[in-house]
Amino acid sequence: MKTKIFCDIADYETIKLFNNKPIVDGFTTNPSLMRLAGAKNYKNYSLKILKTCNKKPISFEVFADKFKNMLEQAYEINSWGKNVYVKIPVVNSKGKFTGPVIKELSDKGIKLNITAVYTFEQTQKIFKNLNKKTKSIISIFAGRMADKGKDPLPIFKKSISLTKKNKNIQILWASTREAYNYTQAKQINCDIITMPPKVINQINGFGKSFKSMTLDTVKSFLADSKKSRFSL
Ligand code: G3P
Repeated sequence: MKTKIFCDIADYETIKLFNNKPIVDGFTTNPSLMRLAGAKNYKNYSLKILKTCNKKPISFEVFADKFKNMLEQAYEINSWGKNVYVKIPVVNSKGKFTGPVIKELSDKGIKLNITAVYTFEQTQKIFKNLNKKTKSIISIFAGRMADKGKDPLPIFKKSISLTKKNKNIQILWASTREAYNYTQAKQINCDIITMPPKVINQINGFGKSFKSMTLDTVKSFLADSKKSRFSL
């Protein structure tokens, strides 16, 4: 089984560049990445991206906090393109589970990416509300967990085993911190991993020998010592 690589970015030029790379199967954005990309008008910026990226799946997130408004935004975002996945956070800012939103949209055949997932219990609740005939993604935030000293692997393994019989429901390794996360995601048969562009580029260096890594390391230290004209 192949672990697909998505690129976690909202920057227009980067999406344009990575859309042509065969290694990249899709894209994920979120409101923070949209802000970082300098988007002023959410819809216009997204439509500009979709002119370039109109085949590979791309997720755009709702940013409303009330369920009624989330639904309105979700229908709007879904209308932007056939390759669009609507990202819905697993809870709103009050901590209320977005189950009714997920169920209504998924039952209508709208492709969803349920985001900000940190526990297996959340995966179970999401899974119950998803229509198994509709394509959906569940995004588990590995890096943010690891940043807080927690091991992301157990929740991934349990979530993958819960959803594996449903070909339409995919588990996505989100919040990637390093290239080795791709190896980890492959080892547990995770369907998708989304990675920042820098980390995707590092995958090209896979397979490099320890001998040449030692040499590169020593050479770079030597080069910096020379550039700084260190002397003792
Ligand atoms: O797009 C969701 C997720 O991948 C964000 O990752 O780096 O902000 O923890 P990060």
